Amino acid sequence: MKKGFLLFCCLFLLLPPAGLAAFTPLHRGVNLGNMLEAPAEGAWGEAFQDEYATIIVSAGFDHVRLPVQWSIYAAEEAPYPIWHDIFDRVDHILSVLTDAGLSVILDLHHFDALWENPKAETPKFLSLWRQIAEHYQSAPDSVLFELANEPQTDPATWNALVRQGIDVIRQTNPTRNILIQGTGWGSGSELFDLDLPQGDPHLIGTFHLYDPFAFTHQGIDFIDGAAAWLGTQWQETTADTADIRRSIALAKAWSQETGLPVHLGEFGVYEKADAASTNRWIAYVARLAEKSGISWSYWEFCSVFGLYDDDARAFHPGMLEALMEQP
Ligand code: BGC
Repeated sequence: MKKGFLLFCCLFLLLPPAGLAAFTPLHRGVNLGNMLEAPAEGAWGEAFQDEYATIIVSAGFDHVRLPVQWSIYAAEEAPYPIWHDIFDRVDHILSVLTDAGLSVILDLHHFDALWENPKAETPKFLSLWRQIAEHYQSAPDSVLFELANEPQTDPATWNALVRQGIDVIRQTNPTRNILIQGTGWGSGSELFDLDLPQGDPHLIGTFHLYDPFAFTHQGIDFIDGAAAWLGTQWQETTADTADIRRSIALAKAWSQETGLPVHLGEFGVYEKADAASTNRWIAYVARLAEKSGISWSYWEFCSVFGLYDDDARAFHPGMLEALMEQP
């Protein structure tokens, strides 16, 4: 066989197929939301139960995203040691999940003080990641890190934090996959503001999708005016799908441009929307992401955007089917 042909075959195998985003090691997942992202596990009504791992695997998911509010589980003074108790708890949860065969995105969530005062809080951000990275350096590759959820700052500030955060993690985890979101609410378009280090193939872009917001967040208590959105339906009209198509197309384009995979880390509907609209929306977003070569984690498992009803010990009617139906 000619050398040139061999080279062509190797390149073909290495590159993502034309028209598709580069692949993540993830496929279909769910967020364990409102558990360890709360000021104390259980404070927002949900605590991790070991049995969730089997329920999630049996439902057909291959991964979970685990938001943890690391910043409150650490001392306020330098060098900001993380409490042993939270490491013990996360160690336990990670081993239950990975033993069940799930990959886990370990995400730093709700570090609000960092966005309020990035300069003052940067040492704490880097110390948290130094400790998390050291602690999990021997974890299997199926554990991925996510630098921060929805970074509420400007791109220049965030890009500086991203560089320093990656440097800290790379000292102990040279090849662990790290997910990075654009600033603000981190939609597809904000990925383009990221300035990632070149030559690191273990970075994954991530974005969130809650469009149209007045539909997905109708009646939610943490947004002023959300009560006025109650009754908003979603019918898959051209207008209903416009922002979703735009965000996913942008995320795919970013992946093609950078050669890095992209992951939809959150999308979901608050429980006040009507079930038929919710299930239509879920199915539409999940299928469009998949057609675009984008892996996803639904927001979330068993709380107010949840798929699973803890009391009934069953998935809400139609939700899982909508999420998982084959195209
Ligand atoms: C936040 C949750 C919120 C969800 C949907 C997440 O990133 O952590 O508190 O419910 O987004 O808005």
